[in-house]
Amino acid sequence: MAKDIEKRIRKLRDEIKRHNRLYYTKGRPEISDSEYDRMMDELKKLEEAHPEYASSDSPTRTVGAPIPDKFKKIEHVSPMLSLESIRSEKELEHFAQTCARDAEAAVRYVCEPKLDGLSIELVYEGGRFTRGSTRGDGFTGEDVTLNLRTIPSVPRRLKTDNSPSRLAVRGEVMMHIKDFQELNKSRIAEGKEPFANPRNVAAGSMRQLDWRITAQRKLTVYCYRILEITGESPETQEEALRMLEELGFRISPKVRSFTDAAGIIEYHHKLEKQREELDYEIDGIVVKVNSFSQQKKLGTRTTNPKWAVAYKFKPRRELTRAEDITVQVGRTGVLTPLALLQPVEVGGVTVSRATLHNMDQVEKLGIKIGDWVRVERAGDVIPYISEVLKEKRTGKEKDFRMPDKCPSCGSGIVKEDVFYRCPNGLSCPAQLKEAITHYSSKGAVDIEGLSDKTVELLYEKGLIGSISDIYRLERDELLSLEGWKQKRTDNLLRAIDKAREVPLDRFIYGLGIRNVGKHIATLLASKFGSIENLAKAGKDELTDIKEIGPEIAESITDFFSEKRNTLEIENLRKCGVTIKKKKKPEKGKLLNKKVLFTGSLQKMKRDQAKRLVESEGGEAASSVSGELDYLVVGEKPGSKLDKARKKGIKILTEEEFLDLIG
Ligand code: IVH
Repeated sequence: MAKDIEKRIRKLRDEIKRHNRLYYTKGRPEISDSEYDRMMDELKKLEEAHPEYASSDSPTRTVGAPIPDKFKKIEHVSPMLSLESIRSEKELEHFAQTCARDAEAAVRYVCEPKLDGLSIELVYEGGRFTRGSTRGDGFTGEDVTLNLRTIPSVPRRLKTDNSPSRLAVRGEVMMHIKDFQELNKSRIAEGKEPFANPRNVAAGSMRQLDWRITAQRKLTVYCYRILEITGESPETQEEALRMLEELGFRISPKVRSFTDAAGIIEYHHKLEKQREELDYEIDGIVVKVNSFSQQKKLGTRTTNPKWAVAYKFKPRRELTRAEDITVQVGRTGVLTPLALLQPVEVGGVTVSRATLHNMDQVEKLGIKIGDWVRVERAGDVIPYISEVLKEKRTGKEKDFRMPDKCPSCGSGIVKEDVFYRCPNGLSCPAQLKEAITHYSSKGAVDIEGLSDKTVELLYEKGLIGSISDIYRLERDELLSLEGWKQKRTDNLLRAIDKAREVPLDRFIYGLGIRNVGKHIATLLASKFGSIENLAKAGKDELTDIKEIGPEIAESITDFFSEKRNTLEIENLRKCGVTIKKKKKPEKGKLLNKKVLFTGSLQKMKRDQAKRLVESEGGEAASSVSGELDYLVVGEKPGSKLDKARKKGIKILTEEEFLDLIG
């Protein structure tokens, strides 16, 4: 008898552990919640009645999924873009005008509150929540599935019967203000530090490896975008929101649509007034073009869509004193006045410096050293001074003047328009250090561990004096630095080694050519295909690219006409740097053809399929239009198939598609 009980307890423990794994780690439960509860109840009762069989690793004590020791990386279903921010009515009007002009039609706009939380992606397969990730760099994020499973507003299963076989949505993890205040109250009572704001708690909770901690935080997820869907797909943002709601997601209240800028501006004012009364934090509104075909027509830049903007509210503000004003020398030699402030908390962040941008700004503000100032901060934007409180002056304030000589290298400063510039280029230590930091930054060549502080140290110790010197760093030199043990040294050397192979667009961006940001760098890479071709390009050839005007073209030709720059590129090559060409193929089985996929694909993943199209010189489309060349149909195709048939577009099975590209 006792043997039987022990056997039953063991069996229940093993079974429950197996179901935990299936549920939490694999996302494939085999039994219903009530069956699971019944097993757990039986085990609890048996353990209570027979304490002699107690065990610390019984699922009645451990509960749920195993705790991972680090987050896995997950590639997003489609890139998670961010939004361009605007702050004025004029910018909003300009946005609306540009949309209407480029859409060549009347445009309807959907306005939503801009939720101030943490952006996440949720993926559903066969109607079940299978994985969720943080935004990360927009392409890959961290696998926070276990944490998201603890949030009640993340449906475990989609609500409708005919739910799509695959669905990816984007949303925001939030903490309601009421829940935030309660949490802080109990933290204070426990003698713990309170959290700064709800956003920090939401983000911090997602970064917990132990999902049991996340489960204790009252979080909510609001969804606002369908990233991918099989079967019936919506054609507008309004439809998408309705669909999300029907599928069981929470969508943000207060969504409204307008057909002109005036309506949007009024909505913005109204919501800004209501802001303090809402139970969740918002920092603006998001304005989106409603029609997906118009969104597609408008297109995207590298990281922002052209069909949406974040129209921000007035930022939070505080008063403090400007104890001093100094200057910083930037990457292009421009001197920027910087106010050193008496530290002050602005919207949950301690601020001790604020850029004054340029001399014009200093004069416009009329700021003097020692003045009382109003500091503002909005979202992730660097704090800035919006106003000087002249009535608080004592007479002891001092004027600020731009230095005649560069504080870094002593060269005479030249004035260009509103800018004061050190003309010494890469011979100026400050500019050189900035150039090296820029080259190794995330968006450029991405050398992990080579931060501005490390660059400063390596420069001061005489270990680097140019970008290519990064690749000449020796192990012994690094080990001789204070605090540099083997691990840190090897990590940096490994990161540098990894950065010997660089995609062309990142390399171009990393060169730090004036006026060439990431987006322009990408355009240049795909047009010219190699550094040599770009270096040879004349102004006319450059301005042939739609988004490149004479000013950018001149920066580029100026850069390559400087011997020092071309020599440095050669040096990088000599140090083993290889630049990966990324040019749109000039031939291929799908050259200039537009291909769309629908239904769930059996022979390949959606991303793979799209990459195949691109590698054959084609374009992966996102909706059915007259320009579409092929529709490739997987299992359970939706309305796209009907639409394509009506338009007489060629329909292919997966096999036919694979045959076509050989
Ligand atoms: S749409 C491609 N809608 O704002 C469009 N974003 O950079 C993707 N956000 O990181 C964003 N509320 O986390 C959208 N209703 C809303 C939003 C929203 C908040 C966040 C999002 C994004 C940031 C803008």
